[in-house]
Parts: sequence; C-alpha cells; structure tokens
Amino acid sequence: MISSNYYYVVTLVIVLISNVPCEAQLSSTFYDSTCPNALSTIRTSIRQAVLRERRMAASLVRLHFHDCFVQGCDGSILLDDTTGERVALQNNNSVRGFEVVEAAKQAVEAICPGVVSCADVLAVAARDATVAVGGQSWTVKLGRRDSTTAATRAQAESDLPRGSDSLQTLISNFANKNLNEREMVALSGSHTIGQARCVTFRARIYGNTNINPGFAIMRQRQCPQTGGDNNLAPLDLVTPNSFDNNYFRNLVELKGLLASDQVLFSNGSSDSIVQGYINNPRSFQSDFGAAMIKMGDIEPLTGGNGIIRRTCGSAN
Ligand code: HEM
Ligand SMILES: *[C@@H]1O[C@H](CO)[C@@H](O)[C@H](O)[C@H]1NC(C)=O
Ligand SMILES: *[C@@H]1O[C@H](CO)[C@@H](O)[C@H](O)[C@H]1NC(C)=O
Repeated sequence: MISSNYYYVVTLVIVLISNVPCEAQLSSTFYDSTCPNALSTIRTSIRQAVLRERRMAASLVRLHFHDCFVQGCDGSILLDDTTGERVALQNNNSVRGFEVVEAAKQAVEAICPGVVSCADVLAVAARDATVAVGGQSWTVKLGRRDSTTAATRAQAESDLPRGSDSLQTLISNFANKNLNEREMVALSGSHTIGQARCVTFRARIYGNTNINPGFAIMRQRQCPQTGGDNNLAPLDLVTPNSFDNNYFRNLVELKGLLASDQVLFSNGSSDSIVQGYINNPRSFQSDFGAAMIKMGDIEPLTGGNGIIRRTCGSAN
C-alpha cells in the first residue's frame, strides 16, 4: 500500500516536471487574444515608413540582427544609451531606424498598452520591411520580453561580425549563435538591400585583388583614400532597393562591396551555396525566412524574465 502510493507520487512528480518546459517557447499566436490587431498595426506603420524611404527596410532588418546577436533578441539595442552597445564600432553612426520602431511601438501601445514588447515589434518590423521591398514573408514567432539594460560596448564589439572578417571568422561568429554556414550565407543575402559607408569598404576597393577592377574604380569615385568616411554606396549595385538574389550574382562577378561579402565567393566552402542561390532564387527566399526565424530565437527573455517597455528607448 505504502509502496504503491510512493510510486504513484513519484510518477505524478515526473509527469508534472516533464510538462514544465525548461524555457518558455516563442509562439506565432502569442498576442492573438491579448492584442489581436498588433501585427496589422505594426505592418501599417512599417509600410508607411518604407514608402517614405526605401532604405529604411534595410535599416530595420539590420537593427533586428544587431539586437539578436548581442545579448539575445531583447530590444536592448533600442535603449538610448551613450556608453553601451549602441556606440560599439559596428553600431555607432551606423545603425538607424530607431524612430520608426518607436512609432510602430507607440501605435501598438495606443491599442493595447503594456502588452507587446519592443523586441517583438522589431522582429515583426524586420519581416514587414523585407516584404515591403519584395522579399518573401515568414511567420514571426512572438513572446519576447524586453531587457532592462543594454549590453556593453565590449560585448557588442565581440559578438557582431565585421566587414573585414574572413570566411572562417564569419562561420564561427554565426556558429556561436547557433547558425550554420548555410544560414550565415542566406542571412548575408540581406545585403541585397541597403547602404554601407565608405569607411567599411575602403580597404577593399583600394587594396583587395579579388575585386572587379571597373567596380573598384566606380566605388573609389565616392570613397576617397582619405576623408569621406560616411559617404554611402549600395551594398547591391544592381537593385539596391529590391529584396532579390542580385547580391549573390554580384559576388560571382567579384562585385561584392564588403570584404565579408566577397569572402562568401572566393574559392571556399560557401561558393556552392552562393551558386545555389543564383540557380534557384526561391531557395534563397525560403532559406532566408527560415534563418530569420532561427535568428529571432536567439536567447529571448520569456515568462517572468524581462519587462514590457512602454517606450523602446528607455527602460522606464
Ligand atoms: C555576415 C556578417 C555580416 C557583416 C560582416 C556585416 C557587415 C555590415 C556592414 C559593415 C554594413 C555597413 C554598415 C555601415 O556602413 O555603417 C552592413 C550593412 C547592412 N547589413 Fe550587414 N553584415 C553582416 C550580416 C548581416 C546580416 C545577418 C543581416 C541581416 C539579416 C545584415 C543586414 C544588413 C543590412 C540590411 C545593411 C544595410 C543597412 C542600411 O542601409 O541601413 N547584415 N553590414
Ligand atoms: C560615436 O560617434 C559619435 C559621433 O560621431 C562620436 O562623438 C563618439 O565619440 C563615438 N563613440 C565611440 C564610442 O566611438
Ligand atoms: C579562384 O581561383 C582561381 C584559380 O586560382 C582564380 O583565378 C580566381 O580568381 C579565384 N576566384 C576568387 C573569387 O578568388
């Protein structure tokens, strides 16, 4: 009798424990009952912003990437902070779109105050921005909560890749975030939109040998050896405002703008992935969406962790 009760209790405890997830999972239906119009509200806001300025699509995708890679997708990059991750080498005078995320967040606050996190607004914004410039959609998982603090500048500088990185460095940098080589190449494909500053590609257009000579000369015109650090050039010279596979086509012509772009097609292990995305543009679009979902899963704050910020720029 005693022993059968004992086994009953042990079994019950095991059943209960196994039903408690170690970590709360993100879910695409997270706001369905608490804020059913959240997603359509964000979409309207992002569409308007991209109509005003096409480049904003690129800036929002990058903002989500830089949020997720540093301390997880916790909206930390949105915190207005003058000493932390925002001023890291890869972010300072470079990341943009904060006011667009804040406007989308305030539109959501107006219908459901205190419900939807800034980290989620940004994840949805990145998807809607991609779609607004011709990319294929994906289902965004939701339920992230916001951090109360920004990451340090040092952490951001070590976690975020650099335009001068080698293929091996890029592969291990993404592997640190549970993204494989193929996912790294697919995600780099978002350089099919947006702009880069002269300071990020100067060394390549004056020094590298694996560059199309005509392309190097064209870029040198707006990017002198000294000065003009902030002069912009499109990452995809063919269709800088469309989310297509021209980024990969450029690489085989040695017209990648950043050194980190061209290393993806430089007689290395990723050449075949690049060629695959040229041969089959739809495989790029679907791999990109899948990789964005995986990137959006990096160390989210869920359940009782983190907060729902009222404004994205401050932790209240
Ligand atoms: C593979 C490693 C990567 C490196 C080394 C890299 C580096 C860079 C650099 C140096 C710039 C120009 C920044 C400036 O001029 O200040 C840039 C721009 C950009 N990056 Fe990346 N990036 C990488 C991966 C990614 C990923 C994974 C995404 C998104 C999924 C992304 C999205 C973008 C976008 C959209 C822009 C243009 C932003 C704008 O016009 O505002 N990049 N990247
Ligand atoms: C960031 O950029 C601003 C404006 O150019 C500059 O004053 C500041 O020193 C930079 N911060 C860091 C940490 O490099
Ligand atoms: C790959 O190697 C070949 C033969 O050495 C060379 O001609 C070519 O320029 C290289 N391609 C790239 C992209 O480095």
